[in-house]
Amino acid sequence: MKIKKHSVYVLFILVIFLSLAGCSSSNTSAGSITPKIKTGKDITFFVTSDIHYLAKDLTDGGEAFQKFFNTGDGRELNYIAPLLSAFTRDIKDKKPDVLIVSGDLTNNGEKESHLELAKRLEEIKKSGTLVYVIPGNHDILNPYARGFRGSEQYVTDSINDNDFSNIYGDFGYNDAVLRDSASLSYLAAPSEDVWLLMLDTAKYESNMAAGTPEADGEIRSETFQWIKKCSALAKQHHARLIAVMHHSLMDHGAVTKDYTLNNSRQAIEAFQAADIELSLTGHIHLQDIKSHESGGKTIYDIASSCFGKYPQEYGVLKYSSTGGFDYTTSPMDVEGWARETHSTDENLINFTAYSKDFLAKTSYSRVYFSLAGAGYTDEQIDSMFKTYNVLNQAYYEGKPPANLEEIKNSEGYKLWTSADGATMQKRIISFANSTVDNTKLHIPLNQDK
Ligand SMILES: [Fe+2]
Repeated sequence: MKIKKHSVYVLFILVIFLSLAGCSSSNTSAGSITPKIKTGKDITFFVTSDIHYLAKDLTDGGEAFQKFFNTGDGRELNYIAPLLSAFTRDIKDKKPDVLIVSGDLTNNGEKESHLELAKRLEEIKKSGTLVYVIPGNHDILNPYARGFRGSEQYVTDSINDNDFSNIYGDFGYNDAVLRDSASLSYLAAPSEDVWLLMLDTAKYESNMAAGTPEADGEIRSETFQWIKKCSALAKQHHARLIAVMHHSLMDHGAVTKDYTLNNSRQAIEAFQAADIELSLTGHIHLQDIKSHESGGKTIYDIASSCFGKYPQEYGVLKYSSTGGFDYTTSPMDVEGWARETHSTDENLINFTAYSKDFLAKTSYSRVYFSLAGAGYTDEQIDSMFKTYNVLNQAYYEGKPPANLEEIKNSEGYKLWTSADGATMQKRIISFANSTVDNTKLHIPLNQDK
């Protein structure tokens, strides 16, 4: 009888324990913490964003497709599959520990593009690099999901949030330490020393009813509570946290509305409370680094350039337990890939020149129309465009041009500075006065850990 009573007591304690464990994960689903990279080991992260992948079967390369990418923002959608092959070759060659993709994985959220991209990422993972993704504003419940056939665009399936975490299960969701029940955010632990707070900042819930994808982003109020749990867990395990999200943590120059998080201030405070010193973001399609300092703490926001847009560079973030974080950018070796695969496509064989030229072509009409009717001669417009083009290229490269003084003394630049009220004047002057190199950053170790 005594033994029976004891057993009932043990069973009672077990039931209480299990139900408490269940309660503690009421807004999370906890996984195990089994980092592949052990403490003290150096880590190399490759960082990219805004792949905007389009499945091969969704385009016949015809008139509608040509029009779409030739009148776009300079993204080379026509070469997105070869670019991903070149990038995969770089990854297999350089063997980073981790690849991070900070959203806008697909052109416009097409289900077929997601499925095909996931297969391409699987190839990277099989080569030994851990892959972590989060969604951007283009990826989920996107009413603009389209394929291209002949002279027409046609509607194709998009995906919902559940589909996203299923399709990309192998790239963060299945091995998450914690998942947020209010969003597709999750906590990943690739190494014992550095964990990734992967935040879903996209607002896709009302897209279908609105008939348009919402471009702005925010961290949901429930997710702020979840971030506190992640921070406590990371501190308990002596792991440093890096935040990864699609929208900017802080303003990057004039790129603000719809780009910076709507609740940027609250996010910065939450990150600083979590001892986060670095966030990796995308969305603005520019290589740019900004920082914010308050209460004796500095936090950096590195915006990665767009994967398919000039200069086709990716971020390389190295962590060492003695030196801290070092960030730089590296170009994709598209020409090397083209040679190795015996490509006969002249654009891929001479990709650097092609890509520069493509950016120039897509900018020309914008500059021309902004100046048309303002009384300039063709020669003047030509010299103004040349100045714009050199500064614009440098802007996308994330650093000032080598011959900045020469440019500032050029005829084109003088015309821009005196172009009363010209729409692009502010942009040109701000390009010419930016002397910061946004491709490099060193963050020394915060010794509190
Ligand atoms: Fe975006």
